[in-house]
Amino acid sequence: MSDRPLIEARNLVRKYKSSAFGNHYTTAVNGVSFSIHASETLGLVGESGSGKSTTGRLLLGLEPADEGHVFFEGTDITSLSSRAMKPWRRQMQVIFQDPYTAINPRKTIQHFISEPLLVHGLVRSLRDSDDHVSTLLRQVGLDPSLMTRSPHEFSGGQRQRICIARALALKPRFIVADEPITALDVSIQAQIVNLFQNLQQQMGLSYLFISHDISMVRYLCHRVAVMFEGRIVETGSVESIFSNPQHSYTRMLLNAVPSLHAEHASSASSFDRASLPRPSRDMTMKEVFPGHFVLQS
Ligand SMILES: Nc1ncnc2c1ncn2[C@@H]1O[C@H](COP(=O)(O)OP(=O)(O)O)[C@@H](O)[C@H]1O
Ligand SMILES: [Mg+2]
Repeated sequence: MSDRPLIEARNLVRKYKSSAFGNHYTTAVNGVSFSIHASETLGLVGESGSGKSTTGRLLLGLEPADEGHVFFEGTDITSLSSRAMKPWRRQMQVIFQDPYTAINPRKTIQHFISEPLLVHGLVRSLRDSDDHVSTLLRQVGLDPSLMTRSPHEFSGGQRQRICIARALALKPRFIVADEPITALDVSIQAQIVNLFQNLQQQMGLSYLFISHDISMVRYLCHRVAVMFEGRIVETGSVESIFSNPQHSYTRMLLNAVPSLHAEHASSASSFDRASLPRPSRDMTMKEVFPGHFVLQS
């Protein structure tokens, strides 16, 4: 693993106006920093509303940050024009939670998968895209003959495979997967997670894997960042975080998973949510074990 991260977030901040009138703002992301290396998966966990999806969008430049920077292989790509961003955008893709709304229901699968190839001039026409699309469908475990079908003929798991095929079309190096299995049947979640793993091994992909499901993160990720009220409160290797959680919010998340109860049974069930230390901007990350940091005042 080289020292320079593939992608790095430095002190990202994003505020939203919380009402149309007045000057009330919600700070969705409040000074978030992390880095991800080549072939590495960072899990971003936290409850709904903690700022995970916003962090993913800021990283990809899908919306502007109010403060902070994003570096891709050391280059600051924070506020590039859409034209200047185009070559970087090829390297970074996103998979969303809902594979039902992600695909245009009126077009064929081939149309959907080949669109980025057409936009970036890698194929000249839909007809021209047969070989590319066949390869991509095989990569995600689908039969190439399905490319002429409509989205409604596919199950949720197959649709997520189709979304992954499209995300792979431009040979990205980094993928933000935002709750990519949450909407799928439990019985097929593992298949999709295994597909992510196989693709990583084959292509050296890096992932930001966003999930509220900490046990899935444990299975798939190398490192974890725990997000609470717009801040990362704890980060470290999966081994270190799961065997030695330090922040009370991390412990609360772990305690909420029945299968993990045995390990952290101590302060389980009766967690007093109101007593959790609220993260603030003047707190800093302190290294408590090698590579394992906790937000402290
Ligand atoms: N486009 C938006 N406009 C206004 N508020 C938003 C917007 N997106 C997110 N928020 C708010 O920012 C906070 C974090 O949201 P989000 O990043 O979606 O969290 P998560 O993905 O962890 O559930 C929430 O309070 C949410 O209501
Ligand atoms: Mg979200």
